[in-house]
Amino acid sequence: MDLLERLDEARDTALEAVSKAASLAELASVETAVLGKDSDIGAVRRSMGSIDPDLRPRVGAKLNEVTKAVTALLEERRAELERQEAEERLQAERVDMTLPAVEYPLGVLHVLQQTIDEITDIFTSIGYAVADGPEAELAWYNFDALNTPPTHPARFESDTMYLDYGDPADEMLLRTQTSPVQVRWMESHEPPVYIIAPGKTYRTDAIDATHLPVFHQIEGLAVDEDITFADLKGTLHYFAKEFFGPGTKIRLRPHFFPFTEPSAELDVSCFNCDGGEPDCRVCKGAGWLEMLGCGMVDPAVFAAAGYDPEKVTGFAFGIGVERPAMVRYGINDIRNFTDNDLRFLHQFPS
Ligand code: DAH
Repeated sequence: MDLLERLDEARDTALEAVSKAASLAELASVETAVLGKDSDIGAVRRSMGSIDPDLRPRVGAKLNEVTKAVTALLEERRAELERQEAEERLQAERVDMTLPAVEYPLGVLHVLQQTIDEITDIFTSIGYAVADGPEAELAWYNFDALNTPPTHPARFESDTMYLDYGDPADEMLLRTQTSPVQVRWMESHEPPVYIIAPGKTYRTDAIDATHLPVFHQIEGLAVDEDITFADLKGTLHYFAKEFFGPGTKIRLRPHFFPFTEPSAELDVSCFNCDGGEPDCRVCKGAGWLEMLGCGMVDPAVFAAAGYDPEKVTGFAFGIGVERPAMVRYGINDIRNFTDNDLRFLHQFPS
């Protein structure tokens, strides 16, 4: 009974090989080796046609039994290895939740941006919109439309950073003030206008403790019917109280700006000593702090922007950002703003 014995042996070898297979890949090759064409079992299967017909039913039955047994163990082992390999993968990919997290240092908004945001909030909360304009500006918007004739000293090449100087039609520069946004806005919007326009401005100032060639301003413009100087005063007093504190007083000193008439400079009472200390570190005993320029919009500006000066009136103001921030926080050198020294910047958590 050679064939039957051979099958018994083949089964035993196959079962042993299957149970020893240590991975799914190994199991796959064991399967071919023990059940495939060239295996012992495969050889018996192939010879079925040529064996003695009397023996065939017994050999056939045995072949089936052996194949089933081997297949059954193969399936069982495969399931086991799949479980095992999945488990190993899970272990390998496990995240240890008890490990300390990677710490990313948190930045803060730059103190100037914080100041701009704060001033912007004060005005948007009373209905002002925020406007924007190009930093590379046409001389026409920066000067002519603002009633500043070609003979004005600010227009000299030495005072302004020109991108294109000479031919009046193409003169282009880095804006010296945010005031050109007034004209751009009026050109493209009907009155009433209530806007502020924060942004960068440029002048040829040499760098020292109080000057940088790039600095920030916040422009304000209100145009409506029957706007008076009292509106200007009330609005700016409101702003001063919001920014420096409820007890803040203001005073307006006559001044000159080409694009406003009348014009004034606005001082606020010293938030540190309220005018009471001769050697106050903030106001140096003056009692007042210079804050901004302002005035009633000159009719020539309305005309340049396409508004009818007979129908509307308005006021404008321009707030420097660096100086009030320095005064408020006791910063004595404007260069601190641009040095990018974290020891400075982190003193103003946002
Ligand atoms: N543009 C002026 C400057 O840079 C500031 C200013 C003054 C703006 C009076 C105004 C204003 O809108 O009415 O010095």
